[in-house]
Amino acid sequence: MEKINCLDLSGQHKQIKQEIFEAFEKVYEKTAFSGGPFVEEFEKAFAKYVGSNHAVGVSNGTIALHLAMLALNIGVGDEVIIPANTFIATAWGVSHAGATPVFVDCDADTWEIDVTKIEAAITPKTKAVIGVHLYGQPFDVEAVKAICDKHKLYLVEDAAQAQGARYKGITVGVFGEMACYSFYPGKNLGACGEAGGLTTNNESYLKHLQSLRNHGSVVRYYHDEIGYNYRMGGLEGASLSVKLKYLEGWNNRRRAIATRYQSEINNPKVKMQAKPTWSDGIYHLFVVTTDNKDAFVKHLADNNINAAYHYPVPCHLQKAYAHLNYKTGDFPNSEYLAAHCVSLPMYAELTDEQVNHVINIVNQF
Ligand SMILES: Cc1ncc(COP(=O)(O)O)c(C=O)c1O
Repeated sequence: MEKINCLDLSGQHKQIKQEIFEAFEKVYEKTAFSGGPFVEEFEKAFAKYVGSNHAVGVSNGTIALHLAMLALNIGVGDEVIIPANTFIATAWGVSHAGATPVFVDCDADTWEIDVTKIEAAITPKTKAVIGVHLYGQPFDVEAVKAICDKHKLYLVEDAAQAQGARYKGITVGVFGEMACYSFYPGKNLGACGEAGGLTTNNESYLKHLQSLRNHGSVVRYYHDEIGYNYRMGGLEGASLSVKLKYLEGWNNRRRAIATRYQSEINNPKVKMQAKPTWSDGIYHLFVVTTDNKDAFVKHLADNNINAAYHYPVPCHLQKAYAHLNYKTGDFPNSEYLAAHCVSLPMYAELTDEQVNHVINIVNQF
């Protein structure tokens, strides 16, 4: 058996190479490289797919989070609650706006933000909660929204890992003021290049986001506020429009692989993310935990399976946030997850034979 990597993008790109190249040719002929019609076409299609009124394409997911904070007028002196066990960029969005991320532990089983811990983290400075649909599985949106409504806080969804995931049958991205996406190449919907985006039902946020990403300008060379060059590229937009047509099929293949992992991996040493009744996730990552992580990863590697770690250090213990004075022991579930997590291979092009091999090797550990 050849090496099976945690993620391999080559199969997907072989499958759609012709279509992508044709799309690139159209961008090239129109020289529409920055923003423009190919980005607008993707924005329309993506908003429709999510079921949101509007979508805004930007340069990457980190920037989407930054702009969400700016559009909500969140800045210096404000606090934003986020889970401690997310990719660090959720926190960057808050920090780039000048606000302070306030971390909350995750649930021991679902690994999503622990709803019972949010209220204790609220202070008079709190402006918003960013819920993260971690590994492509929705967090408990209704429960978090109820807390936000009670305390008059904004809810923002970090859907960077969750394009097409469903909460109680509804595609995520419509529950908060805004939702933020990464279209990094490795995401379930990834551009040929760096890209990100937001969805919102609110037209005034839409207009503000469009201006902020374009130097604070609506009319060319007239700048209404200090803005940014955060536009999406035309080639990225065109590649995303091609790939969006395949997303549902790719997500369903991931769901089928996940179902096999969930039902056929029966090694008691290996624990999986609990799947709540509300969740129809898209398995961006398939993370498990095991007590002896190093031995497990070596056993996988000895059998031609390359695992990965998402994420080995929780946000509150990152050096970048040392000034916030968190310490080991503050968020035990996030810390346990960081110390014991291993990501198994997960992408739509995995063959049934490769899935069999992963299941057998995990069960042999
Ligand atoms: C949860 C989460 N938030 C934000 C981001 C940031 O996205 P990007 O890498 O496109 O800046 C990512 C992607 O890596 C992510 O996984």
